[in-house]
Amino acid sequence: MMNSADKQVRVYRAADSPKGVLDGESVAVLGYGHLGRTAALNLRDSGAKVRIGNREDEYARQARAEGFEVVPIAAAAADDVVFVLLPDEVIPAVFGGEIAPALKPGSAIAFGSGYSLAFGLIHPPEAVDVLLVAPRMAGSSARARYVAGQGFWACIGVEADRSGRAQQRMLGLAAGLGVLRAGAIQMSAKMEATLDLFVEQTFGAVLGTAIMTAFEVARDDGIPAEALVLEMYRSGEMEAVFQAFRETGFFRSAEDHGPTAVFGGITRTMAMDRGAMTESFREILRDIKSGGFAQRFQEEAGNGYPMLEFARAMMHGYSPISTAEDRLRRLTSSNAGSSGGPSAELSDPMAHQASIESTQRVAAGRGSSPSISSEPRTPWAARLIRAPGRAWTVWKHAPAGTPWKYKLVCAGVHLKALLRLAPVKYDFGGRVVLVTGAASGIGRATAEAFARAGAKVALTSRDMKQLEAIAEQLRSTGVKVSTHHLDVTDRGEAFAVIDTVAKEFGRLDILVNNAGIGQCLRLEDLQWEDTRKIVDTNLMGIIHCIQAALPIMKQQGSGQIINVSSTAGHKGIPFLSVYCATKFAVRGLTESLRMELHKEGIELISVCPGTTDTNFFRRAITNGKGWYLKSPWTHGPDGVAERILHASARHKREVVLTPEGKMMVIINKFAPRLIDFMTLKVAAKE
Ligand SMILES: NC(=O)c1ccc[n+]([C@@H]2O[C@H](COP(=O)([O-])OP(=O)(O)OC[C@H]3O[C@@H](n4cnc5c(N)ncnc54)[C@H](OP(=O)(O)O)[C@@H]3O)[C@@H](O)[C@H]2O)c1
Repeated sequence: MMNSADKQVRVYRAADSPKGVLDGESVAVLGYGHLGRTAALNLRDSGAKVRIGNREDEYARQARAEGFEVVPIAAAAADDVVFVLLPDEVIPAVFGGEIAPALKPGSAIAFGSGYSLAFGLIHPPEAVDVLLVAPRMAGSSARARYVAGQGFWACIGVEADRSGRAQQRMLGLAAGLGVLRAGAIQMSAKMEATLDLFVEQTFGAVLGTAIMTAFEVARDDGIPAEALVLEMYRSGEMEAVFQAFRETGFFRSAEDHGPTAVFGGITRTMAMDRGAMTESFREILRDIKSGGFAQRFQEEAGNGYPMLEFARAMMHGYSPISTAEDRLRRLTSSNAGSSGGPSAELSDPMAHQASIESTQRVAAGRGSSPSISSEPRTPWAARLIRAPGRAWTVWKHAPAGTPWKYKLVCAGVHLKALLRLAPVKYDFGGRVVLVTGAASGIGRATAEAFARAGAKVALTSRDMKQLEAIAEQLRSTGVKVSTHHLDVTDRGEAFAVIDTVAKEFGRLDILVNNAGIGQCLRLEDLQWEDTRKIVDTNLMGIIHCIQAALPIMKQQGSGQIINVSSTAGHKGIPFLSVYCATKFAVRGLTESLRMELHKEGIELISVCPGTTDTNFFRRAITNGKGWYLKSPWTHGPDGVAERILHASARHKREVVLTPEGKMMVIINKFAPRLIDFMTLKVAAKE
């Protein structure tokens, strides 16, 4: 058997362009999408007589506006050369009914992708030439290169020569497209389709997985999320690497990166489990070649693209990577400093200081509010029209096995979220905020959100290294930050740290009691020391911090204490017994103190998040016998932080954060057995 190295690869260049081969032949381009439009424009600019076959839609209107004659697909298919540039999975549905019957004997049909030919999804008539002209560049870039006088690569081939002119027609089409200015590699439709799918599904999938995994691992270890997206692709360094692969060569360009990168990259590459990857790639290749993938993709299309919709819902829904990209964009946008946020200090330190001082004067008064402003959002009517579609998508794509009642609640909740009023910007300028457990998750996001809103923040946790990394990042944007080691179970340390913060900043306005640990196992499996640890952290820790902060706040005559409880502080959850007990207790403590401290001008707020995408469940005590909650709806820590700022600015008493959580609280009041049943459904053994 020959391997690929033994096979001769034929490459066509500009010198192979036939002269005037498409002269006198009518050319039809079927489909006016990205590639169809580029092909039509390039062919027309190269002198070919082109018309478009398309159904009556906005693409047809665009083609007419760009000067093309547009006719139904069946009419266009009667031209001399018919170039099919419809989506892969659509071709089989259209071919038998509209294209094949119209093809003239002696004409040529060309495909922009080998997919439908390769997997036997269509069978062109015996009397026509069958060609492959498959560009290796997206439509808009291919057009731009053509206009600039450059070419772009393509895979080309003759599948059937019935006229004796198939090769010349193929080269004429490739030349007219602009392909031969760069080069075209000869290939069969089967080979082209296999190559295309194989690289998308192996190299593409591994690259995507590598980005997501590296992001998660490094972020969990405290590397800023923004820095990660910058390092991996936002800086453009990676593009330069791929450009070097192209220009210098994959191995040969490695020297450009310096000895550290070469040593690290090569040694780590050698240590990767390539055996498992090779086996999985072989399996993917077998599946593609056997037509298994094509069959599944055709079923997907036949069923209305459920997986594609699911993927799109994921792509456009919450993700820590997209959140980091947005934050980076905000930080680097030209008006990043205009909202009174941290970078205002950098652009105009005097004005910023004046604004802080004026806010401080206002803030010093009892019960004064941080200022709130809102920014414009998509018009309400537009959101109203889009809302049912979005809610339907959420309903449809809840993970398999999700009880319908949960799906109903969640879809309704997202509907409500869509209709929410404009997002609010807060100004906590000059306020001093202390956050416990600020090294990760909700605590970190809350500290960062207060900092963005102009507050001075004291970050506390047991992980000083991580705190320093966060503080450094915040300082670089002009925020005043201090870091303190604090194990909240240590009463003495709590008093010392809170006293230091008050002295350093001159006051303490907001105490966020966030530090907490979870449990995910049966009560009988929970060790005594672990039980104490949960109670000491989640309940006693809060009591220590409040007792330390009260004298300072009382002396100021104002203060706000925000205690992070949980929806599990409203509704008992199986396998979270002691955790739930502490979170119920936190709510009780908050409620009592709210009344007790009312006259002193000190506000108490309890915040009850639902399942949030943090390290919480990974760090929870499980003793190796873990249970976990398969909660279908997870929220980001940034969203929780935003609601904490909202609760603080609006002087709320208690906020139950997620709509699912709110629903759970309500149902628990009126139909406790129903909610017990539903909760048990989402608890599972690891
Ligand atoms: N994630 C959820 O689904 C969820 C849902 C509802 C409520 N909550 C609550 O939200 C709060 C934050 O949790 P998270 O989701 O952000 O989890 P996380 O990422 O694990 O953060 C927990 C934080 O608590 C700190 N902490 C733990 N023990 C401590 C101690 N003895 N002294 C000082 N700090 C301590 C940890 O800091 P160090 O280990 O670095 O000191 C860590 O920064 C917790 O109170 C949790 O109960 C979470």
